[in-house]
Amino acid sequence: MDKEYTAKLNKICNLMTKRKWDYKDTSRASGVNLRTLESILNGDRILEPKQLDQMYEIIRDSKKSNLLKFEKPIVMTFYAYKGGIGKSSLAYNLAYSLAQMGYKILVIDADGQADTSSMLYSKFLSLGNKNLFEAMYHSHDLVKGGYVFSTDYDNLDVVVANMKMELMEATVALKTEPQRKQILELCFKTIIEENYYDMVIIDRDKNAGLVSGLFLEKTDFIIMPVLSQMLSVKSAPNTRSFIEACKERNSKLQILGMVWNLVDKRKNPRNTSAKDFYDGFDNLLFNTIIPVSADFESSQDYMMPLGVYKSNGEANKKIQEFTIEVLERIEKSLKERGDGLLV
Ligand SMILES: Nc1ncnc2c1ncn2[C@@H]1O[C@H](COP(=O)(O)OP(=O)(O)OP(=O)(O)O)[C@@H](O)[C@H]1O
Ligand SMILES: [Mg+2]
Repeated sequence: MDKEYTAKLNKICNLMTKRKWDYKDTSRASGVNLRTLESILNGDRILEPKQLDQMYEIIRDSKKSNLLKFEKPIVMTFYAYKGGIGKSSLAYNLAYSLAQMGYKILVIDADGQADTSSMLYSKFLSLGNKNLFEAMYHSHDLVKGGYVFSTDYDNLDVVVANMKMELMEATVALKTEPQRKQILELCFKTIIEENYYDMVIIDRDKNAGLVSGLFLEKTDFIIMPVLSQMLSVKSAPNTRSFIEACKERNSKLQILGMVWNLVDKRKNPRNTSAKDFYDGFDNLLFNTIIPVSADFESSQDYMMPLGVYKSNGEANKKIQEFTIEVLERIEKSLKERGDGLLV
């Protein structure tokens, strides 16, 4: 490495040391791509000296961001034993919103319908066998096996699904208990070890079978969307029973909250005729109520997160409000648990 390059690199390192920032802090505060920063700090000569100067200036002018820091990626799953309630719509919009704030997010689409895949990576069908089914089938590491794709959006990567996910239930059923446990252990190995992502957000379908069980075994927090209609509310106790059963294998599993979605603004969802079904769930309900909004459908026509389609629209404002609440609950819960996940 020539002298000029080394001097410029040292200048960046010294600045980081002075500010007591590790490479993740630096990336969060400055917006400099984390992988690029990691590579150059590891000695990979992927930038020109002039680009190092530019990077130095960006880092110098950036302020400390005060995002939550985790010891390992927080795994958050959108799950409910009910279809069509906004699991996918809320999952990818929350993911985009968190990524915009500076969190490094990996979205894993674990539903064969691939709704989230199509919204975050419209070319997902052209990826051949680089989808979640193949990764799970072969117990491949998602990162090292090349299953993770960058979206068009900063800080937001995705693992896509396709229809083959429907075969996963039968595939898993044929395996022994220890083999089942291994599947996601191996898929998630690098994600957990390298701690590149702050959060992994899983969009799971409504099945309450073995595959959902595997995902919940890897999950820290579940978010359950719920509609105010009887047929949605009445599924909440079933969802909870399934989650309770999964807790036997994952004691950290916790419902972060239930979020009212698709709410008619003229109605108060708490007064629904199905109230008896969610009695006992009151403390789980997020304050944010997501209304019925045409922006969801229109943004999906353009295959865009709400924050890209209409960032100042009412629907996106609600997503942002929801994002803040999600972060507050995660922080509170990790502090209460005192399990050291929060740095
Ligand atoms: N707040 C909202 N306002 C208007 N439409 C919404 C809202 N939330 C979701 N939708 C629409 O409702 C439909 C169902 O949403 P979505 O696909 O996200 O639900 P899901 O729970 O993921 O469904 P599935 O169980 O099939 O995976 C979609 O057409 C979506 O555009
Ligand atoms: Mg869905």
